Amino acid sequence: MSLYAIGDLHLHFQSVLRAPGQLSGRVWKNHEEKFRNYCKKLMTEEDMLVLVGDHSWGRNLSECEKDLQYIRELPGRKILTRGNHDMFWDAKKTKQLNDLYKPELTFLQDAYEAYQDYALVGTKGFTFEGPFYLDRRGRITGWDDEAEIHARKLVERELQRLRKSFELAKADGFRKYIMFLHYPPTNILEERSGFTDMAEEYGAEQVIYAHCHGESRFNDSIHGEYRGRSYHLVSGDYLRWKPMKVLD
Ligand SMILES: [Fe+2]
Ligand SMILES: [Fe+2]
Repeated sequence: MSLYAIGDLHLHFQSVLRAPGQLSGRVWKNHEEKFRNYCKKLMTEEDMLVLVGDHSWGRNLSECEKDLQYIRELPGRKILTRGNHDMFWDAKKTKQLNDLYKPELTFLQDAYEAYQDYALVGTKGFTFEGPFYLDRRGRITGWDDEAEIHARKLVERELQRLRKSFELAKADGFRKYIMFLHYPPTNILEERSGFTDMAEEYGAEQVIYAHCHGESRFNDSIHGEYRGRSYHLVSGDYLRWKPMKVLD
């Protein structure tokens, strides 16, 4: 029995693909097939796969049906968390999604999932990604104050959701955690954030995140061992569609 993770499938079986990077990037060519083949090779029905957001380009559930069906047909149990592009998923209507797609898919929001003696906790997260105004040497000369104020609110809300996920697991007796975010835990300017602090507070062993696409973004946040936890970027194009093994 193993636990795997990946993010950012950005499926579009029924929707119009507008993202230029995905249209032209070689790594995205037939990525649905590459990923499915890896899953079939690596995983069994006993395994669990956490998909950390940006599942589909569809703007509503009817534009996502084939995408969710594709995910449903992958081996093992699938746990989905929200990404910034998942328009089909209103956080307040998570129960309806779970009712529709159980038992193969679990939509995780304000909840946790058990994997052996671990609690899998998570939320979408958020990071202020600018715009930052930089001079020619890359020094920051200013940024969009309004956007930053808005970002602080989103970060606060996501931290509350994450805490709820941890607390529910803790109340049920869990003491070991793996933490999942869609957004990276820090932006390119931060060394720490509310998300890294919370991972430390509860003692999450690993922090898994996605959202960063393309070579130029892969190093936006933390990789590897950092302040007692291990951090892993699992966006699909970074992993070249081979899901990362999180736990045996
Ligand atoms: Fe994405
Ligand atoms: Fe994203």
